[in-house]
Amino acid sequence: MNDLDQLVQDAQAEFAQASAPADLENAKARYLGKSGKLTEQLKALGALAVDEKKARGALINAAKQQVEVALNARRQALADAELEAQLRAEALDVSLPGRQRGSGALHPVSITLERIEGIFASMGFDVAEGPEIETDWYSFTALNNPENHPARSMQDTFYVDVKDADGKWFNLRPHTSPMQVRYAKAHVAKHAAGMAKGEAMPEIRVIAPGRTYRVDSDATHSPMFHQCEGLWIGENVSFKDLKAVFTDFFRTFFETNDLRLRFRPSFFPFTEPSAEVDIAFSSGPLKDRWLEVAGSGQVHPNVVRNFGLDPERYIGFAFGMGPDRLAMLRYGASDLRQFFDGDLRFLSQFK
Ligand code: PHE
Repeated sequence: MNDLDQLVQDAQAEFAQASAPADLENAKARYLGKSGKLTEQLKALGALAVDEKKARGALINAAKQQVEVALNARRQALADAELEAQLRAEALDVSLPGRQRGSGALHPVSITLERIEGIFASMGFDVAEGPEIETDWYSFTALNNPENHPARSMQDTFYVDVKDADGKWFNLRPHTSPMQVRYAKAHVAKHAAGMAKGEAMPEIRVIAPGRTYRVDSDATHSPMFHQCEGLWIGENVSFKDLKAVFTDFFRTFFETNDLRLRFRPSFFPFTEPSAEVDIAFSSGPLKDRWLEVAGSGQVHPNVVRNFGLDPERYIGFAFGMGPDRLAMLRYGASDLRQFFDGDLRFLSQFK
């Protein structure tokens, strides 16, 4: 074996041993670098005679080519190995079970509200929504609550540190009753212009579900809770209609005719007369227990006037019921606050 063959063989062996690209480049420098073994050979050519130079030069170039072929092959091999290692490290095991995303569902109170809306819609009631941050006028004054009257403490609410156009604090509405006035005023505004003189205003028939707030917290009260307001105003709407609507509603809601209603005299500034509505089931775990489910009454003439209507001509009833209470009864929940704690162990039972 001549010296050049030996040199090629040594280079191939060193390249094969290089296990990382940096090692390989170092090995390359030892042969092809500025003072590498092959480069030295080429430099040495200068000392030879012309004809020797040619033959020896050809041999050196052939050796150099072999070294370069070995170098490139090893470079490629190292790059392939690196890519393969990377792919192996990043490999996805498609047979692993995926990360589960819990499927969402409606909140039990939302389910209850949808149920209430559906039943009232089937009886011809519109469904309206209104602001949770209310003015003093809509929450109280328009509803026949004189300013500073002690009856206002029936709805002790939260106030917002901002004043409305009347210079009163905004409040978090303590009931959905402001929606009676908001809806009725809009209804009157919408119809008044197009009506012939003396013509009767189309009836107002609406429910207004939504969030309400009071300074209250125990097993059956939460500082944030829901109400559903109802209002039916026309020329000839009476308490009898309220009884019929409520009886129908509760029997449909609880899917039983085995249910009695009781109207218990009560007081609200915005209705006269007023009644609390109680229901009792004739069977089941709550058999014969009277459960309070709503406040109601014939809308007070002062409130009808605030609707923009003549109380001598228009009359009707309003009610406010507690969807949370209805959800508790329907699902047999024992503590109202569970609905709002956000504990999935409780909530996922309603999926
Ligand atoms: N707003 C009353 C309450 O929150 C309920 C009610 C509504 C009573 C409408 C009569 C008429 O207690």
